[in-house]
Amino acid sequence: MAQTVTPLQLFQEIAEGRITEILDVRNIDEFEAGQVEGSRPVPTRNVPVYRVFEDLEDECARTLDDAVVICGQGNGSELVAEEFEQLGRTVRSLEGGTDAWNRLLVPFEISGVPAPVRVWQFQRPAKACLSYVVGVPGEQCIVIDPTRQPQPYLDLAAEHGMVVSHVVDTHVHADHISGGPALAADLGVEYHLPPEDCGGIVPFPNRPLKDGDVLDLGSAQVRVMSMHLPGHTPGTIALLVSEAVLLVGDTVFVRGLGRPDLTGQAEELARDLFRSVHERLRPLDPRTIIAPAHWSTSEEINGDGLVVTTLDDVFTATLLNERAMERFVEEIVTSLPAAPESYDLIRLVNSGRLEPPEDEIDILDVGRNQCAASTSLA
Ligand SMILES: [Fe+2]
Repeated sequence: MAQTVTPLQLFQEIAEGRITEILDVRNIDEFEAGQVEGSRPVPTRNVPVYRVFEDLEDECARTLDDAVVICGQGNGSELVAEEFEQLGRTVRSLEGGTDAWNRLLVPFEISGVPAPVRVWQFQRPAKACLSYVVGVPGEQCIVIDPTRQPQPYLDLAAEHGMVVSHVVDTHVHADHISGGPALAADLGVEYHLPPEDCGGIVPFPNRPLKDGDVLDLGSAQVRVMSMHLPGHTPGTIALLVSEAVLLVGDTVFVRGLGRPDLTGQAEELARDLFRSVHERLRPLDPRTIIAPAHWSTSEEINGDGLVVTTLDDVFTATLLNERAMERFVEEIVTSLPAAPESYDLIRLVNSGRLEPPEDEIDILDVGRNQCAASTSLA
């Protein structure tokens, strides 16, 4: 039997710098659709499994001790690891393969939030996506931008004696399939999605949050206020928690800005983004913790493993200090990378206008996000 590593162990060992190499034995197209990446870069080779077996001894010799072998479900990689072990090489196989990696969610608590409220950031490394639980232990919590794996949020809520009272999507995501409507329906709680992002009609139960609306967490001291921040999408809602943490969706990232082109109105939304940044974000306390919905590169992950920054730091980005709106718009619009083809379909699914079968949804929900306008804005 080959040695194995779970997705969570792999995530942690990458962060600790203990993985020497990843040998990904999936087909080239699967590899190109999405790779295993953690909070530190790890040298990665893609050699499809049939090629490994064609040239077993040489491939084994090329592989480093303490490498991790990866395939789609964990079967081919286990065979490779067994063969390598016979040849004297110590490698491990990823349990459940990239299918299991794609579902991994890892919670990190954000420090510096005034009691009694607590905020947890859930990282989904396969997509570089972030979701959140904001709550008061013993009372209520809100789940924000959930993935389709609800159990980790529910486990955390149960651990702290919190009842989920609301589920919020900050906007209609284009890069991953939202778990929001299903989670809210299963729990029988209110779901909030901006209807502006759905052509005005949301075909499932929804209570839109207006600018300034406050969500109840059961504790009189806690204020979770919605802020309308159009730009990445027309309807994006950010949540300001206790005047201390801003769950900002894809408006700004630790490095960069959310792309404004995914709904086909790039210039108009780039102007909205400019106004949101200068008229809504800039007046906030510069110490406000900015908690975005994505990251692009491991450089955005801080020493505590969190993808957060402060408003002050966000404004060190050159483009965010551009005060001339039309220069800002031109700079963003001309530097946009091409959007993945799947994004239009994902938006239709997330706004309830398309219901593909579950296996097709799985395929749509693969690969890292490309939601930043540019990663070179810092
Ligand atoms: Fe987005």
